[in-house]
Amino acid sequence: MRLAIVGCGYLGAVHAAAMASLGHEVVGIDVDRAKVESLSQGRAPFHEPGFPELLAQVQGDGRLRFTTELAAAREAELSFVCVGTPQAPDSQAADLSFVDAALGGLLDLLVDPADRTVVVGKSTVPVGTAAVWAERFAALPGAVDLVWNPEFLREGFAVQDTLSPDRIVYGLPPGESGRRAASALDEVYADLLAAGVPKIETDLATAELVKVAANAFLATKISFINAMAEVCEAAGGDIYELAQAIGLDPRIGRRFLRPGVGFGGGCLPKDIRAFAARARELGAGEAVEFLGAVDRTNLRARRRMADLVTRAVAGKAEAGLEGYRVAVLGAAFKPDSDDMRDSPALAVARELARRGAEVVVYDPAAGPMVRQLAPELQVAQSLSQAATGAGALVVLTEWDEFVQLDPDAVAGLVARRLVVDGRGALDPGRWTAAGWDFHRLGAPSPLAAKAVD
Ligand SMILES: NC(=O)c1ccc[n+]([C@@H]2O[C@H](COP(=O)([O-])OP(=O)(O)OC[C@H]3O[C@@H](n4cnc5c(N)ncnc54)[C@H](O)[C@@H]3O)[C@@H](O)[C@H]2O)c1
Repeated sequence: MRLAIVGCGYLGAVHAAAMASLGHEVVGIDVDRAKVESLSQGRAPFHEPGFPELLAQVQGDGRLRFTTELAAAREAELSFVCVGTPQAPDSQAADLSFVDAALGGLLDLLVDPADRTVVVGKSTVPVGTAAVWAERFAALPGAVDLVWNPEFLREGFAVQDTLSPDRIVYGLPPGESGRRAASALDEVYADLLAAGVPKIETDLATAELVKVAANAFLATKISFINAMAEVCEAAGGDIYELAQAIGLDPRIGRRFLRPGVGFGGGCLPKDIRAFAARARELGAGEAVEFLGAVDRTNLRARRRMADLVTRAVAGKAEAGLEGYRVAVLGAAFKPDSDDMRDSPALAVARELARRGAEVVVYDPAAGPMVRQLAPELQVAQSLSQAATGAGALVVLTEWDEFVQLDPDAVAGLVARRLVVDGRGALDPGRWTAAGWDFHRLGAPSPLAAKAVD
């Protein structure tokens, strides 16, 4: 099929390349000229494992091109809208200006009575957005159907998640329009559906809600375990043993039960805020009031982490950190990504610098972004450069390079063997055996704690 992808960021660029790899003819459209140039030259504008290889493969096959011209979507049988929906600058709601511009642009373009196409929203939007646009597209003289097909990919696994998703959700308008759109999407995803990926067909509102409900659940699970870590600290319990014990209950499960510096990125924080804001508009604010507590617990984890580092390094949480050199390992919001949007690691690194520490950050992919966003931080080119002369190692993003780090190998570089594990990802036994002073949230005795996965 001929497909257009409007918005080629973390979601859209990967979606474009993945759709081309399924055999479709794809044009990626973005207003960011530099991004279009980079993608056209086969250079990934962000770090995502497997994406550069996929991009090279499909561009070599001639099935993928990029442009800044929205008019290219006129040739497409189906256009995906993958533009950003960040938090509005002046409220907790979503900023829909990019979605409005992209859908409005398509609306103005598809005015010929001969136009027969499907517009597929993939961006995460407040419930009710799709229905408004479906009506506008339905009023066009041709047959232009609007559906919502929310995206669940995880950065770091974006290629894999796009080509073998857990599920595909179609939010369809009623009647003939919905049937036409569903069969067009079936054709787009034919290979995935044939491989057994579950498909759920539902209405527009439910599809929009599925996405934000999934993110709200995951955010709640992360904040739940961080809240339990706070209680463990107060009561003298051990969060790691608690997490292991409750996680063995299959109704609870062990994933997302690792205490630490909390969630961030371009999705979870802004999505739970936008969800709560929309629910309030709908008169259902009380139902999701708990999301405010989830958000506050998450933000509190950043401050608690900065306090933990301060206590470990300088003896008390209220101390200044002047004269201490702290190596921060990790700056991106998660490993295998260079995405710095609302990154807890960066927030903690900046807070340590604000408290007076000389902070040297090393991140395998996000170094250049740190230089741009936080000029007060030093950026090291390697882990050993960051560790050299440091009075503490603070792991804030669980890149494999840090999780696998040999404590003996790095011991000779640092000024003091003190490590703070901000992600609950290191093996405390290994570090303490190598003579390190080991700290993490929620565990009173590092020697008593065991790593959980
Ligand atoms: N990143 C993820 O992991 C992920 C996962 C699932 C869903 N989502 C959702 O997908 C959407 C996009 O997220 P992202 O992370 O890719 O954002 P992003 O900021 O990386 O990319 C958005 C892109 O849209 C482009 N754009 C903005 N206005 C445009 C317009 N009018 N026409 C063409 N291009 C335009 C921007 O230049 C940018 O390249 C958001 O709603 C997000 O919540 C993201």
